[in-house]
Amino acid sequence: MANIQAAITGVAGFVPDYVLTNKELETIVDTNDEWITTRTGIKERRILKGEGKGPSDMAAPAIKELLKKTNTKAEEVDLIIFASVTPDLIFPATANIVADKVGLKNAFGFDVNAACSGFIYALTTGSQYIETGKYKKVIICGFDKMSSIIDYQDRSTCIIFGDGGACVMLEPNSEGLGIQDTIMKSDGAGRVHLHQKAGGSCYPPTHETIDQRLHYVYQEGQPVFKAAVSNMADVSRKIMERNNLQAEDVAYLVPHQANLRIIEATRRAMGVSEEKVMINIQRYGNTTNGTIPLCLWEWENKLKKGDNLILAAFGGGFTWGSIYLKWAYDAQ
Ligand code: UT7
Repeated sequence: MANIQAAITGVAGFVPDYVLTNKELETIVDTNDEWITTRTGIKERRILKGEGKGPSDMAAPAIKELLKKTNTKAEEVDLIIFASVTPDLIFPATANIVADKVGLKNAFGFDVNAACSGFIYALTTGSQYIETGKYKKVIICGFDKMSSIIDYQDRSTCIIFGDGGACVMLEPNSEGLGIQDTIMKSDGAGRVHLHQKAGGSCYPPTHETIDQRLHYVYQEGQPVFKAAVSNMADVSRKIMERNNLQAEDVAYLVPHQANLRIIEATRRAMGVSEEKVMINIQRYGNTTNGTIPLCLWEWENKLKKGDNLILAAFGGGFTWGSIYLKWAYDAQ
């Protein structure tokens, strides 16, 4: 029997309409467009408006689009994995909520929380189900409503994050295309530098936790920056080395969009040229689980069957990793 690999066969995304520009942020906190642009590369980000809306409201239209693009009936989907740090509810899983919204009646589903590396963790997890031969259609989602956990009084974090995301279909491939190799890493000691303190079982919501603003993202920028630069570069270079890939063999680096300077350091470590890097941070900021699939969605029309892609992420946890995949289809 031919070796089964998990290949992405379609991608669809969603970003909310509301555009929060650096100019508007200047009216909210003590910051300026020049600082944000030079330190991060971000010009604007999207914000999901409307009461009672969560990542499932962004994922539902994207999944419908994905089903259409891949000629898949909702009831054919076996599994949905939802990567998010801002789930609709603490429980049940957002995977279950969105499966109900789009009619994935025969799918089981669960959420993955690995902060900004969640999408590549979920993609790796989903690929294992496909490789067993038992599951044929697996949807991997990466969506976040970061605006729900961002303190718009904290200029060091509120300028970075935005809302949005995208999803991919994974299917079996026996032509040697799809996911070739993965490196996944984590180090819980990094949690002190990037976390949301309250809202879990250690510190459930109380008047005090709210007064102390503990339900927002806490980030120490510098240590996270240093760890992101060295670890994202390290795994991206390693995955190239162990698969005998030279810079010219790589069609695209698909990096997590946290900071243009981190992306640039990763690119340099891999030795690939600038035009081979997917970058949309200037328009969406850091959408956490959304960044990598949003890049695939935007670049889908440029990708060709057989293209070598390196996906790389770093996030809270700490978590990080890289995936080497061969793109499985030509743009329509
Ligand atoms: O995606 C998950 C993983 N997260 C990341 O990868 C993020 C990694 N970290 C970063 O991207 C960067 O550390 C930041 C963008 C968060 C911050 O950039 P930085 O170059 O590390 O700045 P900094 O924190 O060292 O701050 C430099 C100065 C400080 O002022 P002083 O102490 O030098 O007077 C800050 O108070 O910049 C000030 N500052 C700002 N000034 C204007 C911080 N935020 C702002 C701001 N506008 N928004």
